[in-house]
Amino acid sequence: MATITYPTLMEIDFGAIKVLGDALKRNGIKRPLICTDKGIVATGIFDKIRGVLPNDVQPTTFDGTPGNPTEAAVREAVALYRENDCDGIIALGGGSSIDLGKATALLVNHDGPIDDWSAVNGGGQRIGPSPPIIAIPTTAGTGSEVGGGSVIVTEDGRKIVIVSPELKPKMAICDPELTFDLPRHLTAATGMDAMAHCIEAYLTPVINPPAAAIGLDGLERVVKYLRRAVDDGHDKEARWNMMMAASEGAMAFAKGLGSVHSMSHAIGADPALRAHHGTLNAVILPPMLRFNADHVGNKYTKLRQAMGLKPGADLSDWITEFNASLDLPANLGQMGVTTAMIPSLAAHCMTDACHATNPKPPTQDEYERLFEEGIGG
Ligand SMILES: [Fe+2]
Repeated sequence: MATITYPTLMEIDFGAIKVLGDALKRNGIKRPLICTDKGIVATGIFDKIRGVLPNDVQPTTFDGTPGNPTEAAVREAVALYRENDCDGIIALGGGSSIDLGKATALLVNHDGPIDDWSAVNGGGQRIGPSPPIIAIPTTAGTGSEVGGGSVIVTEDGRKIVIVSPELKPKMAICDPELTFDLPRHLTAATGMDAMAHCIEAYLTPVINPPAAAIGLDGLERVVKYLRRAVDDGHDKEARWNMMMAASEGAMAFAKGLGSVHSMSHAIGADPALRAHHGTLNAVILPPMLRFNADHVGNKYTKLRQAMGLKPGADLSDWITEFNASLDLPANLGQMGVTTAMIPSLAAHCMTDACHATNPKPPTQDEYERLFEEGIGG
């Protein structure tokens, strides 16, 4: 059976943030909790958002979102939500702030450790109504603004995935202008997260032709426009297309993700490494594409077509070179991952929500070899 759902209401254009007031009104939000991070508060973006709020809206701000959002930070945001009698959430920022906003909405109405609500623990079927969320992305990568998924690091240091239609934002306001001043390295890293979503979602064996087609379209845009967005942050056409590609990546992963994400979730759960999710995916894609090659039928032909590559071109080599052209690290070793970490990282992968939908789910031994290859020389 194919389960096909369609995404969040999305407004995309330069200046789209002007619809925020209407979006709040339509969803009955008068006292929003703005979930964001200190970086966004320090930029003009936060003031821009405050500037378009109607006079009768009284916002409270939680700016403590960590790079990889934690259960502890979510609980702080929930406390602030309750103290201020909030009635909805504006999730403003990159994937971390949007995921934190969703997890906050979840824990406002649901008790217990957050892991009780994870996908692998069957949370998706039990999650009930949650406060409305309006998502405003300030990066083009995660696509979290149009999906019902949230990735959170638990109190005991595991990175878990929570997925529910109840956590889908009521509206995604995608204003590419908010990404103009995203630094070069973050443009590259977040853009490669979008590429990983498009590729991994397309390769899962789950049957969802609309999502697969959206993934290929998003991939085409990333290949055409990411370099341009990295080279000139104010390239309007490139920024618009990358924002679209990011949302398309998340629409595509309605059909699931794979082991690139299992491996990046395992590494991303280690707070000492402070590894960026998108950079990890960029570096893990080449070895995983080699691993999956014999288990995907003719799908690599379609990927090459979407990417504008010659028939028979080596996808892994192409992505390795593309990463280098974006000044991303060449391997996981350069990101601080060591061979001593491999056994626990491989064990983490086996419990990850994305593992089962890889074209061929690796064994723990195979994950160990993939990490060895990823660490490089
Ligand atoms: Fe991702």
